[in-house]
Amino acid sequence: MEQIDVGRVELEPLTDSEKHSRQQNNIESNARTYSRTINKLIVSGKGSVVTDAEGLEYLDLLSCAGTLALGHRHGEITQVLKDYLDSDHIMQGLDILTPAKYDFTQQLLSVLPQALREQAKIQFCGPTGADAAEAAIKLLKTATGRRTVFAFHGGYHGMTAGALALTGNLTAKQHVASLMPDVHYFPFPYEYRSPYGVRGEALTSVSLCHIESVLADPESGITKPAAIILEALQGEGGCIPAPKEWLQGLRDICTRYDIPLVLDEVQSGFGRTGQMFAFEEAGIIPDAILMSKAIGGGLPMSVVVYKEKYDKWQPGSHAGTFRGNQMAMVSGCKTMEIIKRDNLCQAAAEKGKYLKDKLLRLQQKYPEIGDVRGRGLMLGIEMIKPDSDNAAADGELAKEIKKTCFLEGLIVETGGRHGAVIRLLPVLTIDYDEINKAVRILEYSIKLALKH
Ligand SMILES: Cc1ncc(COP(=O)(O)O)c(C=O)c1O
Repeated sequence: MEQIDVGRVELEPLTDSEKHSRQQNNIESNARTYSRTINKLIVSGKGSVVTDAEGLEYLDLLSCAGTLALGHRHGEITQVLKDYLDSDHIMQGLDILTPAKYDFTQQLLSVLPQALREQAKIQFCGPTGADAAEAAIKLLKTATGRRTVFAFHGGYHGMTAGALALTGNLTAKQHVASLMPDVHYFPFPYEYRSPYGVRGEALTSVSLCHIESVLADPESGITKPAAIILEALQGEGGCIPAPKEWLQGLRDICTRYDIPLVLDEVQSGFGRTGQMFAFEEAGIIPDAILMSKAIGGGLPMSVVVYKEKYDKWQPGSHAGTFRGNQMAMVSGCKTMEIIKRDNLCQAAAEKGKYLKDKLLRLQQKYPEIGDVRGRGLMLGIEMIKPDSDNAAADGELAKEIKKTCFLEGLIVETGGRHGAVIRLLPVLTIDYDEINKAVRILEYSIKLALKH
C-alpha cells in the first residue's frame, strides 16, 4: 500500500471543542440535528451570545428554538431561581398546589386575552410542546365524542405519536407505521408557494371554501372533527404566516360548525411575533391554546389553556410525572412578568420590523432570496434557484449559508420545505447593534456561499 508522507506536516492539536464533539458524535444518536452545525463545546452564554471552549463568541439567533425569550442567563431569572433553591420550597409537585404554581397560574391568566381568561381552564402537561398537543387532542376528542382531527400542510406539533400524526413533515413519520389515525390535512395558505395557484384574497377564500365544503358535504368522506389544529405563524414549516382574514374566516367556520379551534403557540407565543400570542393579530379567540418553550423561562414547561365548556374529561385522563416542575414555574412566572413590564411584545415588533427591513434590502440585492417573511422576531428567508422553474427551493444554499454563518460567529437555523428557509428566532432582548452585526454576517455568508 502506498505510504503517505505526513512527516513534515505540523498537525495542530485538537481543540477541546473538536475532541469533545468527535467523541460525542460517536455516541449520540443519528437523529441529532442542531449539533451537526453547532459542533462546538458551548461553555457559557449571556443575553444573545454564547461562547465556546476556545473563547469564540456566537451571536445566537436561534435562542434554543425560541425558548429563551429573555436570552441566556437573564440576571433576574437566574436570581429568582437561586432564591427558590435557597428556600424550603419543594422542587417537584406533580399537580398539587404550591405558592410557585399559584403565582405562575395567576401570571398566565394575566397574559391571556380577556375573553378567554374569564372561561379558562389550565392543564399542566409533561413538559414538552408535544405533550400539550397530545393533551389537547385527547381532551377535545373526549369532549366532542368525535374521532377525526384537521391539521395543515407544514404544521409542526411535536414528535410523540399523536403530535407527529398532526405534523406535516414526512421525514420523521414516513418509517413509523400506525400513527394516530383519522387526521386529515388541508393545504396551509402559503402565499409564496400558493397550494391553490392563487394569491392574496383569492387564496384566503379558496382555502376557506375548501375546508367548508368538506364540512358541509354529507359525502365528503370525512366526518366532523374533534378539533382543527394549527399555528397562526408556522415555525418549522418555514416561517409562514397565515393571513389574518383567513384566521378570522377559519374561526367563523369553527363557530358555525361547532368545532374547537386549537392554536399551537408553542413557538410563536409570549411576545415572539410582536404580540403576546400570534393569533392575536387576527383578533380571534381560540378554544384551546398550546403553550411551551418560552413559558418556562428556559426550563421545561407546557400547558394547554382551554375553554371551560370542554372540561369533560375524568380525573387522571391526562397526567405526566414532571408536570409540577416548580423551578420552571418560578422562571416562567418571572419571564411573563418581565415581558409585560418591559413591553417586550412591542420591542419585538419594532426590532423585528428593523431586522425585516434589512432582510428585504438584502432581497433586492440577491435574487437567490426568494421571500422574506414573518412577524416580530420570528422571521424566515426562503432561498431559491432564481433561474429554475417555479423558483425551486434551494436547501443546499440555505445549509451552506447556515454553516458559514456559524463559522463567522452567527447561529441561525434552517427549516421549511427542503430546508430552504433560513430561520431567525432571536431573543426578545436582542439589541440593535447585535441585529446589525447579524445582518452583516448573514450577507457575508450569502456572498461566500454564492461564490461556491
Ligand atoms: C409549534 C410547535 N408545536 C409543538 C412543538 C413541539 O414542542 P417540543 O419539541 O417541546 O415537544 C414545537 C417544537 O418546535 C413547535 O414549534
